Amino acid sequence: MNERYLRMMGKLAALGQERALRFWPELDENSRRRLLDQLDHLDEEFLAAQRQRKWPLVAAGAGNLDGFTPQPYIPLPASREEEERWDRARRDGEKLLAQGAVAVLVVAGGQGTRLGYPGAKGKYPVGPVTGRSLFQYHIEKMVALERKFGRPLPLYVMTSPANHQETIGFFKENNWFGKDPRTIICFPQRMLPVFDNCGQLLLETRASLSLSPDGHGGVLYALRKHQLLEDMRRRGIRHLFYFQVDNVLVRIADPAYLGFHDQMAAEMSARTVRKRDPWEKLGHIGRLDGACKVIEYTELPEEKKTARNEEGGLLFGQGSIAIHLFSLDFLERLARQKIELPYHIARKKVASVEDQRAAAADGGLNAVKFEQFIFDAFSFANRILVLETDRRFEFSPIKNREGEDSPATARRDLSEMFAGWLEACGISPRRHADGTLAVPIEISPLYAMSADELQAKLPPGLDTEREILLEEHAGA
Ligand code: UD1
Repeated sequence: MNERYLRMMGKLAALGQERALRFWPELDENSRRRLLDQLDHLDEEFLAAQRQRKWPLVAAGAGNLDGFTPQPYIPLPASREEEERWDRARRDGEKLLAQGAVAVLVVAGGQGTRLGYPGAKGKYPVGPVTGRSLFQYHIEKMVALERKFGRPLPLYVMTSPANHQETIGFFKENNWFGKDPRTIICFPQRMLPVFDNCGQLLLETRASLSLSPDGHGGVLYALRKHQLLEDMRRRGIRHLFYFQVDNVLVRIADPAYLGFHDQMAAEMSARTVRKRDPWEKLGHIGRLDGACKVIEYTELPEEKKTARNEEGGLLFGQGSIAIHLFSLDFLERLARQKIELPYHIARKKVASVEDQRAAAADGGLNAVKFEQFIFDAFSFANRILVLETDRRFEFSPIKNREGEDSPATARRDLSEMFAGWLEACGISPRRHADGTLAVPIEISPLYAMSADELQAKLPPGLDTEREILLEEHAGA
């Protein structure tokens, strides 16, 4: 142990981080081993890079955004001609699915803490009638696509060390929701050290470092580390569909989106929705200094948020819903060229052994966290597609415990979408006088994925006065 300690001490000293071991004499053998294990796992290159920074760090922000203009996008079809263009794209996308050229990636490192839910966010029970989890919805949609196109649709699930085992356990308990387990690949994201305001590793306790997930952009690092780009290549994948676990309405591997992306030979694509209002908490896709850039709602200046275009609409009227497509060639190129996404800095208040008095003067912000954002990959892409979608059928994220973007709105939006399908089939679920639904509705993706599919198998005599649940039954 002593030898291991000396070796680590030497390494830390070279990085100016030897204070991380200052409680060593007080620690018992087990705590010492755990601390050394944690230190061993740190990314040395990352630590060395932090040493080059000028501490205390000031969050750089997005810089000068005067020249930031919206990225052109393909709007929802508004004419017969455009409908036909979308149909062609859909057919092209369906061919890709039938060739088995598509895989799916969900970032699910987040916990349900903000929702008051003790566990992985993907386990959150959101089904309006049965409490189906987010994971179950997503995976059943994929199983439905696999049946339709007759090819496996591999799913890559990025977890975090906090929920990796829990997530795999959940899948196993539920028999992988009917999907072949060989086509579900779970991998944990990297944890990065948290620093104090002077750039020193922050200790959570005397024997443990403060660590934090590296952001959803860390998925690029994790895919490389776990050799998953090679895995995709082996499976014949050409395009990777990316989404966030918290969006219950996501249309996984939507053929029209795939078709447009492929037709345009885009390296990276995004889906957007028309913003509810200028302040909706979404990212904005635009161009700055000749490159594509996503600017978060927190960073877009007020005058840009409210600026109008010639038609009187919002200039930045489209918001990114974090549904992307990547061509595998692009991901491989980024890896080959060793391109790293930039780090965003967040000043936070975290539990630590440090004397909190110094930080108190600073509003208690005693820690600096680093995160990567997936959308920063846009600035490295040569060809980009931005495709509008209708939020009613594609976007209802669960971010807050109550109010907008909460479990209640997700359940409402799911029920509304299913009600729309039923109404298209001539069935009217009970509504209140104000038009809102009076009954919850849930349709399993294995039962139907659209009004058309529903039409073909609607049970006779459906009671529309009560909650409606349509499930695939064993042997059905
Ligand atoms: C995000 C986007 C925003 C977009 C919006 C759409 C950022 C900074 N903003 O906001 O542009 O318009 O979603 O809903 O991303 N996750 C991990 N590991 C991490 C961090 C996050 O797996 O280290 C996963 C979470 O499980 C979650 C997703 O990434 O599924 C989103 O993360 P979150 O921090 O909630 O992003 P938002 O601020 O909601």
